Amino acid sequence: MPERTPYLAANWKMHKTSAEAAECVDALLPRIAATRHEVVICPSVRALSEVVERSRGSAVKVAAQNMHEEQSGAFTGEVSAPMLVELDVEAVILGHSERRQYFGETDEALARKVPAALAAGLEPILCVGESEEARDAGRTEAVLEAQLQADLAAVEGPERARVVIAYEPIWAIGTGRTATPEQAQETIAFVRDVLRRSGAAADEVRILYGGSVKPGNATELRGMPDIDGALVGGASLDAEGFARIVNYEESR
Ligand code: PGA
Repeated sequence: MPERTPYLAANWKMHKTSAEAAECVDALLPRIAATRHEVVICPSVRALSEVVERSRGSAVKVAAQNMHEEQSGAFTGEVSAPMLVELDVEAVILGHSERRQYFGETDEALARKVPAALAAGLEPILCVGESEEARDAGRTEAVLEAQLQADLAAVEGPERARVVIAYEPIWAIGTGRTATPEQAQETIAFVRDVLRRSGAAADEVRILYGGSVKPGNATELRGMPDIDGALVGGASLDAEGFARIVNYEESR
């Protein structure tokens, strides 16, 4: 089975001005200097170039939190893949549940965004996840399979290994309620199975867990065989705490 490099991503959402982002990156870099994991910071669009400049030559790569599928056009307020590439951004979160819930992000749009990101050389971090109602109704697997099939519809099987998937149960985001490691493992193993059935080299795909990941639970989650890392929101705003999540092996 191929080795999957652990992947730890900080989703700063609409937090941190450029000045605050700079301060946090400066505090983070020395704390993670020895890591062999992939570390990704996802700041606001405004702070992207600041974080790119500060983290040059380090293990950190920088991701945007969203992008439009077109290269340019009359789409007020949007940013395109070539604009991100111009800033030396290397990855992009797509389909975060907050985008789906508050900004009308659809699977149809994601089916265009994922290939547009890949074509531009950006690594998509595609978020999928079920609502509490769906989980309670026993529909978790159906929801996830539908999202994956729709969002990756235009990506050929072998290309799918270039996509990082973040499994983020909506009921666990920002709520302090984390999926148990067993729940997360079981669901992520299912996601890997959907990818395998679709012709992807599923053993190569990094699949992250997201939803109230903290230094105190990251190690246990990461101990699960199919969980390749984390997409961390609230706990990533603090450099010291995020560094502990990145360096989880040392904290065992
Ligand atoms: P949280 O957010 O860690 O604050 O729950 C995770 C996310 O939304 O990516």
